[in-house]
Amino acid sequence: MLKILYIIGTLFQHLWFVRLLSISYLHAPKNKSCMIADTLDINIQQVSKSRLEEVDFQNLPFGRVFSDHMFVMNYEGGKWDHARIEGFKSLSMSPATSVLHYGQAIFEGLKAHKSKDGEVLLFRPQDNARRLNQSAIRMCMPEIPESLFMEALTKLIDVDRGWVPDSAGSALYIRPFMIAVDEYVGIRPSDNYTFIIFTCPVNAYYTEPLHVKIEEKYSRASSGGTGYAKASGNYAASLYPAKLAQEEGYRQLIWTDSSEHKYIEESGTMNICFVMGNRLITPKSSDTILAGITKDSVTTIARDWGMEVEDRRVSVDEVVQALKDGQISEAFGAGTAATIAQIESITFRENTYNLPGKENRTFSNKLYDYLDNLKRGALDDAHNWIIKV
Ligand code: PLP
Ligand code: COI
Repeated sequence: MLKILYIIGTLFQHLWFVRLLSISYLHAPKNKSCMIADTLDINIQQVSKSRLEEVDFQNLPFGRVFSDHMFVMNYEGGKWDHARIEGFKSLSMSPATSVLHYGQAIFEGLKAHKSKDGEVLLFRPQDNARRLNQSAIRMCMPEIPESLFMEALTKLIDVDRGWVPDSAGSALYIRPFMIAVDEYVGIRPSDNYTFIIFTCPVNAYYTEPLHVKIEEKYSRASSGGTGYAKASGNYAASLYPAKLAQEEGYRQLIWTDSSEHKYIEESGTMNICFVMGNRLITPKSSDTILAGITKDSVTTIARDWGMEVEDRRVSVDEVVQALKDGQISEAFGAGTAATIAQIESITFRENTYNLPGKENRTFSNKLYDYLDNLKRGALDDAHNWIIKV
């Protein structure tokens, strides 16, 4: 019965509460981590003096300004406990802490926006909770029931609601993450973990349209690996090839499959979409491609707008041929931090293909505005993506 509820909840994303009801029970017998309560007694200790007035909201660099509070809880003795909201501060840990050596760490990224009436709105947070658990399973880490994740998240955002910016293009970026904290210099899954959520008021991650390069030598993920998980090590491993590309003048890479480098995968911080006429084409999520929540929103909206959506394997050859033939009218990345990030040019081997100017990109410009308005509560939330805090 619970399995059926879960499948219904997964098929019909707007029935998230059905999934929410079923998922914690469904996962319970499989993982020792789920011997946990579904509700939390969160001890809230507010800071005595807010740093809010020191912040220049007109000039927000991405990811460098941190809100007053963070949520913390510990996994010890097979259960999540000591849930608390406290002042944002440094962590203290032993040099022998497991995560520092073996990288057993996962994270998520989502955003809160402010409506014109001052309400604080979260965009699809249950999807982040679900993906965090998928990452946790892959990395031998304990899951967190969605209800518990949601409670922690909404309480934290409520405490720091004054930090949610309201100017165009800005948002409160939310970073949940989990680390292995056993003090042990041996390789095995940790017994103890810390889960934290902190937040940063941000502006756009990419401020300019991007020049990107199709990567054929290095790989981000391989089949059977951790590419579909938001595992911290995936990002560490991609720094070197990204740095080489940046030295050549590219802002980002477009990764290709690791076995043949014949298929487009994704970029370092976002999924990739191409527009050809009335078609939206995007590489299908797989075990090497992160199942982006923004991309899922983009394909859903595109279908709503009557576009043909091709969510499938996309070969490098067909993209390069379409670029040569001038058939690609728009290319963009989709991600929480990146939002809808326009791609200005794509380089493959020695050839650079410039895409039509930003002003001519009918679909992605309309999509950007639509998503921004939706996240700010200015449009009908037909898919039940918005959660009011
Ligand atoms: N791919 C990678 C590697 C990412 O880091 C991200 C960002 O989270 C995405 C895709 C886009 O995912 P989402 O839209 O859920 O943020
Ligand atoms: C996000 O978009 O939330 C990401 O995790 C990308 C990133 C800033 C690494």
